[in-house]
Amino acid sequence: MPPWRWPAVLTHRCGGRLAPENSLAGLCRAAALGIRGVEFDAMLAACGTPVVIHDETLDRTTEASGPVAGRSWAELAQVRLRDAEGRLSAEHLPSLEQIFRCCARLGLAANVEIKPSAGQDIETGREVARQVARLCRIHPVPVLLSSFSSTALDAARTSAPSLSRGHLFAQLPIDACERATALGCQALIVDKDVVDAAAIDVARRAGLSVGVYTENHPGHALQLRRLGVAGVITDRPDTLGPLLVP
Ligand code: G3P
Ligand code: MG
Repeated sequence: MPPWRWPAVLTHRCGGRLAPENSLAGLCRAAALGIRGVEFDAMLAACGTPVVIHDETLDRTTEASGPVAGRSWAELAQVRLRDAEGRLSAEHLPSLEQIFRCCARLGLAANVEIKPSAGQDIETGREVARQVARLCRIHPVPVLLSSFSSTALDAARTSAPSLSRGHLFAQLPIDACERATALGCQALIVDKDVVDAAAIDVARRAGLSVGVYTENHPGHALQLRRLGVAGVITDRPDTLGPLLVP
């Protein structure tokens, strides 16, 4: 597996604000804008199939309700997504495999965020990594696995050691780099509100590339890139893309 190389801009939850979140349509919008990378969230259905959705429940982003982990993929595949205004769209909740195939077709690098339902860190890390490794053999998409969960990242490493990994941090503990390095991560991915020049410098000196989420302000994104941030995850590929994509 080739090592992960950050695209300068990655669209958050497939299409950012330009499409229903975590949808196949979002990938198409990103690619049409010349974006080369996307971030999306992978969680397990009741049957163990990885599906692409952010919340543990279906309520906010779909026409259905209740826990994602309470339904099989056969059931979830029928569920339609809502857009940011809550309107029902023509998009269906996608599986990881559907998203992956679409990334391959569109030439998009994939940052797969492992998003475990409560108490499912090990199973989700293991199964998402196993599936991604299998899919990569068929569709050679550049991939970075990431998670806020150290437990999920550890399970992913055991399951598919050759895949690149990044540790997500919403706050920046003093030992963030040590924790990422101990898990064999290549990248640190940090909330825009807590990242600063010193943190970027420390991470890069530790041999970690740095990603930042979710930056929508063009000036701030440019400044992050100047400070050495390799990849900016954004909801606004329409405004950041033309500035940052070479
Ligand atoms: O992976 C970066 C970002 O997506 C993490 O936050 O809550 O949007 O998944 P969240
Ligand atoms: Mg995410």
